[in-house]
Amino acid sequence: MHDDAPSLCLRNVVLPDGRTGQDVWVDEGRIRAVGPALTVAPGTPEHDGGGWLLSPPFVDAHFHMDATLSHGLPRVNASGTLLEGIALWGELKPLLTQEALIERALRYGDWAVGRGLLAVRTHVDICDDRLLAVEALLEARRRMAPYLDLQLVAFPQDGYLRSATARSNLERALDMGVDVVGGIPHFERTQAAGAESVRLLCEVAARRGLRVDMHCDETDDPLSRHIETLAAETLRLGLQGRVTGSHLTSMHSMDNYYVSKLIPLIAESRVHAVANPLINITLQGRHDTYPRRRGMTRVPELMAAGVNVAFGHDCVMDPWYGFGSGDMLEVAHMGLHVAQMTSEAQVRACFDAVTRNAAAVLGLEGYGLEPGCRGDMVLLHARSPGEAIRLRAARLLVVRAGRVLARSAPASARLSLPGRPVEVDWTLPG
Ligand code: FE2
Repeated sequence: MHDDAPSLCLRNVVLPDGRTGQDVWVDEGRIRAVGPALTVAPGTPEHDGGGWLLSPPFVDAHFHMDATLSHGLPRVNASGTLLEGIALWGELKPLLTQEALIERALRYGDWAVGRGLLAVRTHVDICDDRLLAVEALLEARRRMAPYLDLQLVAFPQDGYLRSATARSNLERALDMGVDVVGGIPHFERTQAAGAESVRLLCEVAARRGLRVDMHCDETDDPLSRHIETLAAETLRLGLQGRVTGSHLTSMHSMDNYYVSKLIPLIAESRVHAVANPLINITLQGRHDTYPRRRGMTRVPELMAAGVNVAFGHDCVMDPWYGFGSGDMLEVAHMGLHVAQMTSEAQVRACFDAVTRNAAAVLGLEGYGLEPGCRGDMVLLHARSPGEAIRLRAARLLVVRAGRVLARSAPASARLSLPGRPVEVDWTLPG
């Protein structure tokens, strides 16, 4: 075992683009070479990839690590709605302690690493004047830095303008080292206040040279159009490629004619879009009888227009969602179904939405499997991205900068059927 060395060679893997029989050599934490039958430096630890799929690690473009693993505290969301979840989080906030926040964040970080999830953008609520969660997640970020990239978004959960102290708290949080400017325009008191919050928050980001990621139009109201303002402000302030609209669920319910103008504007402004399939399918459409809307944003249409679209997990065991385990393949699986993205190219696009597209949202340096990239990768018990999504494939090896962080056994079952004593693992031959 050489799991602590920053160098290794994985032999005989298939890459997400379909290249088979590839070796990947990581030297001093960076990928040195990729190709068939590589000659590597003597003494480099070698691992048999078994012909399985090697991917860059999973990346979660949208999460709430301050709320995760708090399910049932102080009670469970009875209606299952976004608004009861926000109210429930408000009940929990005064009860939070820094120790408990850090402990839950670290526990979730362990879950993430076990799933090959090595980078997470988490929103952190700044509407508690103590900024307890900010302090806790900054500490969690510091402790997890050797094995997980945590990017923090200053998130005014109770409204940037609606909450009396959100403006000063947001500046304080950014001063403390929070990375990204957040927002929640659809939760402000009026449409006009929502648009004003978008304008002010984008100006904060431009002034500080930071990225923006707003919860934007997380509603079934087709007239919630803050994404339009977000894209226009991005252009006005020259923030192209540095701004993300998260959720964008109102777009599901918008008029097609309006969307035919909106999507080109999003593409022109190079605003990233993040859908959160598990949460959107759970929270949206709650005011409908039947037919009941799915509520997720228009993923294939955005992708077809050239918009970078990622999928986020958003919630795991918190006031909004009582399921999940940090498995981005589960997220991709739900996204594929909700968006009906079943063609071969679309299935691959769903895999990209939890890997390289999400890395682009975070602006991760050195992400990928090309020479020179960071030696971060996950070996999956599947032979293609589609099979990985179908099986939520076991993470056979999780590697960070050339070091093995986690190993899992392949999922299988030993059958004792009459005349058929076989072992099944649900993969298909390559
Ligand atoms: Fe969120």
